[in-house]
Amino acid sequence: MTALRALCPAKVNLGLHVVGRRVDGYHEIVTLFQAIDLCDVLEGEAAGALSLSVRGAAVPADESNLVLKAAALLQERAARARGRGARLTLEKTIPVGGGLGGGSSDAAGTLLLLNQLWGLQLDVSALAQLAAELGSDVPFFLTGGTALGTGRGTTIAPLPPIPERAVLLGSPPFGLSTPEVYRALAAPLTAAMADVTVPRLFVKFAEGNDFALATNDLEAVAFGLRSELATFKDALQRSGAEVALLSGSGSTVFGLFGAGNDVTSMATDLRGAFPGWTLWACRTTASGVRIVPAVE
Ligand code: C5P
Repeated sequence: MTALRALCPAKVNLGLHVVGRRVDGYHEIVTLFQAIDLCDVLEGEAAGALSLSVRGAAVPADESNLVLKAAALLQERAARARGRGARLTLEKTIPVGGGLGGGSSDAAGTLLLLNQLWGLQLDVSALAQLAAELGSDVPFFLTGGTALGTGRGTTIAPLPPIPERAVLLGSPPFGLSTPEVYRALAAPLTAAMADVTVPRLFVKFAEGNDFALATNDLEAVAFGLRSELATFKDALQRSGAEVALLSGSGSTVFGLFGAGNDVTSMATDLRGAFPGWTLWACRTTASGVRIVPAVE
């Protein structure tokens, strides 16, 4: 079997409503996921044992890495995966702790890559179940594109792709901890929002591109923790962004622009005012993780 490559895209949340606290400690959310073409690259080839090496970011390559957790979960649940090995190499580009779902996308990439490499023949719904055990954002990346996420964020309803847009990402030199941001969500949770009107609102938003509805309930918490995030959002709005918003629980703030905008030169203009930040120019994409042959 030849080596395979998983192109693992990042995501932004075009909207995120927190509709309630659950007894399991998680929050019930309604979110609109959008994949973007900033990718981590995972390569894998069959080997006698399972191993992982990571390049491009200070991410541990031990069992705490979601890639190895995903591989271990496959070995636990899929009889055909038992005793199989793979040499995995992960090239990180997506910032860690940035609310862009990088680790989650890597986990989804691992499930899809090893499913193919090891000939497991698990179908999408079996993979989605395993993905949800690995993390709230993982199932989205199996299909990607534009999708509504409900429950913990793990119930995914794919939506028609939005017209392609240019995206400017600003990642500050610090990450934010997702549990910490959720814990600090002191605002009363709006039970009235938990009914079906919320998903309907988001579907309308996705189909009609009514970006005025784009809000993130975690934004006020994150901006309270780090005011420079709000400053960056203001800068994006002044640059003409259709939407400028915190992604997920942060710390990345993104701007969405019409496809014809030159966000690369916008990034160059903004860099001086935000020392230490990483600014990325990328685009929305209609795909999720893609498995391709690894060519040398
Ligand atoms: O599922 P994941 O491991 O990504 O979640 C990390 C943490 O984020 C959870 O332990 C929880 O504190 C918080 N979270 C939440 N509600 C969600 C998703 C995540 O409270 N829907």
